[in-house]
Amino acid sequence: MIIAPSLLASDFTRLGKEAERAQRAGAEWLHLDIMDGQFVPNISFGPAVVAAVRPCAKKLFFDVHLMCGKPEILLEPFVQAGADELIVHVELGERVAPLLWKIRALGKKVGLAINPPTSIAEVQPFLDKIDLLLVMTVNPGFGGQEFIHECLPKIQQADAWRRERKFNFHISVDGGINNQTVAECARAGADTFVAGTALFRRRNMGAAVNKMRQIARDNDPTLADLKLK
Ligand code: DX5
Ligand code: ZN
Repeated sequence: MIIAPSLLASDFTRLGKEAERAQRAGAEWLHLDIMDGQFVPNISFGPAVVAAVRPCAKKLFFDVHLMCGKPEILLEPFVQAGADELIVHVELGERVAPLLWKIRALGKKVGLAINPPTSIAEVQPFLDKIDLLLVMTVNPGFGGQEFIHECLPKIQQADAWRRERKFNFHISVDGGINNQTVAECARAGADTFVAGTALFRRRNMGAAVNKMRQIARDNDPTLADLKLK
């Protein structure tokens, strides 16, 4: 169970300190939302900001979510900036396969994201090539949105494929994750939880991270199986 606070919900006047706060809070990962004003109707921050923040949270795994129309030109800059994983969107169609290949060739973890309106069948051809599937549970572009419950069956389907075919990619959820929805996602099969508002907007982020992780663990279907024995 991995908790990944999303820097998008942090105080932008003190990004370095906020990344450090996520590390002190005991999170494993830091999620970095890159928006280009084209793939999504918003702009966030770029490689220079990620590079500036990197030394402030050396222990965190940097999970870079590219909501960008032309990720081809951004892979190397984000690797230089300190990304550990690069996530591209399946909605990019025929460009997905070469993008995944290029991320792998750069020596980084390979992530694939899927938007709420897109069918889960679209990711099926790539499941043997990825380290993480990011199931968007809001329409990307903004933090603080309401969780879309209709996305839950996609998590179940991805988890079923993962078990059937013995894949070991993470299933991550992103958007509207809080102490209620984290339980629903964990029951559906998610193991990695991206949360902006529910973690960065808390005064005691350490307590919020621990609580979220505990709820995820308590709702893990595999653990529930074990408890039956
Ligand atoms: C949405 C981003 C999310 C966002 C989640 O486009 O991909 O990572 O930060 O924010 P919350 O947790 O506030 O919904
Ligand atoms: Zn994200």
